[in-house]
Amino acid sequence: MTFLSATLSRVKPSPTIAVTTKAAELKAAGRDVIGLGAGEPDFDTPQNIKDAAVAAIAAGKTKYTAVDGIPELKAAICAKLKRDNGLDYAPNQVSVGTGGKQILYNALMATLNPGDEVVIPAPYWVSYPDMVLLAGGEPVIAAASLETNFKLTPEQLEAAITPKTKWLIFNSPSNPTGAGYSREELKALTDVLMRHPHVWVMTDDMYEHLAYDDFEFCTPAEVEPALYERTLTCNGVSKAYAMTGWRIGYAAGPVEVIAAMRKIQSQSTSNPCSVSQWAAIEALNGPQNFLPANNEVFKRRRDLVVSMLSDIDGVTCPVPEGAFYVYPSISGLIGKTTPNGTVIENDEAFATALLEEADVAVVFGAAFGLSPNFRVSYATSDEALKTACTRIQKFCASLT
Ligand SMILES: Cc1ncc(COP(=O)(O)O)c(C=O)c1O
Repeated sequence: MTFLSATLSRVKPSPTIAVTTKAAELKAAGRDVIGLGAGEPDFDTPQNIKDAAVAAIAAGKTKYTAVDGIPELKAAICAKLKRDNGLDYAPNQVSVGTGGKQILYNALMATLNPGDEVVIPAPYWVSYPDMVLLAGGEPVIAAASLETNFKLTPEQLEAAITPKTKWLIFNSPSNPTGAGYSREELKALTDVLMRHPHVWVMTDDMYEHLAYDDFEFCTPAEVEPALYERTLTCNGVSKAYAMTGWRIGYAAGPVEVIAAMRKIQSQSTSNPCSVSQWAAIEALNGPQNFLPANNEVFKRRRDLVVSMLSDIDGVTCPVPEGAFYVYPSISGLIGKTTPNGTVIENDEAFATALLEEADVAVVFGAAFGLSPNFRVSYATSDEALKTACTRIQKFCASLT
């Protein structure tokens, strides 16, 4: 009998963190590995945000705060949700946590009972199914396909809903595909939810500001105001403001759920870092003009990666609307053999061989629930991306 909790046997460690760790180990051992696995911008946190943090430290804002966020940050979040999303929330409808990850985890812990189902469109962010399992619920995977650019259709959503469904977790633009739902596509999904009043929607808007070309971000409660009472709108400052290390995420929704999330946080981590909260206020209230500038860079990198990967025989790479990922299909490479004699049986074998034989780290599609694919994060320099894509091209050309 193991000393460990039985709940832990239901979950696995994060595969994206595992790839990043493996790439770092190989690099430390002297290999010239290019890592395209990490989900964080390579930009520095803007100076005005750092300055706000330094000023907070100097002013002694270094003590415990209210468990789920200081009033000033809650006010900034309410203003942001009104400004960007047209949503009215009061401060007692807002919860601030240690990153988007804790917010989603708290929300699931606060609402799931054993046997409750959570619909998760695949490809999905790796943590959703495991968080649902940790909270005692049952993930129900609704698989989208390459043909719809990895977006769930209303029929697929309808088929996944049962009387036990509690939540749909919705993420647009998506990690790992970068797919962003247009207003019409999202409306088709919210129409399904309107027919099932027992289903709530947890929307993960983490990549809201990372959108390219003429894509216009929208969020479920904005598209279907009648869903407001059963929507938890989750977001954070990690990706758009290059603040992954500061650990600030937030949610807005019905008071009862927010209060339950606060209860969990009060008995686990207490408040998110006080200094980070003051930095997040500056992120949300301060100048936003670096966002379009960063997006120009991300868009250029996206176009570079899509074009170089699309040139490969056996690889299909849709053009994503946002985030900083592409999710090419390798269905044309399955069954081939690498120069070292490894048979590419699936996307995990592909990613392992690519790392071992071509020194490029990517995450295999099975980790995100849709195969055979791999995820490239293009949040790294143009030069590294060019070199990495050239290596991928050569590796794929060497397969027989
Ligand atoms: C879709 C999605 N949601 C949430 C998170 C978590 O963000 P945070 O770093 O704020 O915890 C991530 C981070 O990778 C993500 O990709």
